[in-house]
Amino acid sequence: MAGNRLDVGILGMGTVGTGVARLLLEQRELLRSRTGIDYCLKAAVDVRWDRVDLDLAGVVCSEDPAVILEDPEIKVVVETIGGTGVAYDLVQRAIRAGKHVVTANKALIATKGRELFRLARAHQVDLLFEASVGGGIPIIKGLKEGLVGNKILSIEGILNGTSNYVLTKMYEDGMEFDEALGEAQAKGFAEADPTLDISGYDAAHKLAILASIVSSTVVDFEKIHVEGITEITKMDIDFARNFGYVIKLLAIIKNTAEGLDLRVHPTLVPKSHLLASVNYELNAVSVTGDFVGNTVFYGPGAGQRPTASAVVSDIVDLSRDLLLRNGVGYCNRTIDPCEEPKLVPLDQVSNRFYIRFFAYDAPGILAQVGSILGKLDISIASVLQMEIHGKDNYVPLVIITHLAKEAAMKEAMEELAQQDYVRGKPLCLRLHR
Ligand code: HSE
Repeated sequence: MAGNRLDVGILGMGTVGTGVARLLLEQRELLRSRTGIDYCLKAAVDVRWDRVDLDLAGVVCSEDPAVILEDPEIKVVVETIGGTGVAYDLVQRAIRAGKHVVTANKALIATKGRELFRLARAHQVDLLFEASVGGGIPIIKGLKEGLVGNKILSIEGILNGTSNYVLTKMYEDGMEFDEALGEAQAKGFAEADPTLDISGYDAAHKLAILASIVSSTVVDFEKIHVEGITEITKMDIDFARNFGYVIKLLAIIKNTAEGLDLRVHPTLVPKSHLLASVNYELNAVSVTGDFVGNTVFYGPGAGQRPTASAVVSDIVDLSRDLLLRNGVGYCNRTIDPCEEPKLVPLDQVSNRFYIRFFAYDAPGILAQVGSILGKLDISIASVLQMEIHGKDNYVPLVIITHLAKEAAMKEAMEELAQQDYVRGKPLCLRLHR
């Protein structure tokens, strides 16, 4: 830092990068008055300047990252390119050049975090990523700072706005899946490839990041059990509603004595639960700490202004740290890239389940289904069979179970799928607990 001025460079002037530039320029006085530091946007780099709609007078605008990476006065680099290709390369170059990096890139942190945190340590710089989870919600800071004195016992998050939008539209308006997804894309919060959203992988990237903070290790994203929302039909939404539940895509961390239980999957949440009323593209993270109890963070999980708000909060944090420590970063003390977390295999976890399939309507069928579940020690809590007149003789059958082992349920689902009286692939969802 030169005096109380911090020069910043932005790599990637898409929606988020432009938002960060806008905030730094429009709120320069506000930030200076609050922090005593003058945040100066010195340079911005992109290869498609035609899409940038912002007056950047006085800012070096270029297609060449060297204007940032080779400028010794720029101490903080913001990476808002996205993805793990060019972004990964440029972040590594920035760190090697001794620059602190702030990123909004969840895929980058979730899949290349170990390498990047190691590199940052070696070069004594920081790599901050508040905007990578929950958009504008200060969840990373909430965990690292506000809840620093707690062992985090569990986290349940609605972390993907697109999936939440689709599920809400199906629940509230009876909209079909594809139509709702089209709307989410048109509104601009879906990923460039929306399969990342609806497959649960975007939420899993974010979960890996939260789990890394909870465990102070790097959680390998590939080890998270992920199920998306693509198999959920309007019929399931309605059945769940009749049983008193709303279906939400939850990202779950349970910090158990045996290790971390990490999962992303659609979950039947009781209507009375706070997370059941988090609708449309909004995100929420419910965090339980051993001293604080339960807290809920709620807000916009995507979008230009909320994401820029989170990125700038990291820039301010960095500058305050740099003032205190003479230019040397924290080196991400909250995450140790050399440590491995202990994870609980999914098979060992117990849950309550919602099973839905089409069964041939004939004497003895329900007894056969009950016998498959019974011999695997799966106890039925509720059953609903819907008579459908004027169609063939296959009817939807819904079963809600008591607590059962994941391994047993997996076996039961495989066996059910093989029965002559079952048509199509049975669906299995979990209940909130
Ligand atoms: N595609 C993401 C979502 C954007 O729908 O939540 C924010 O990461």
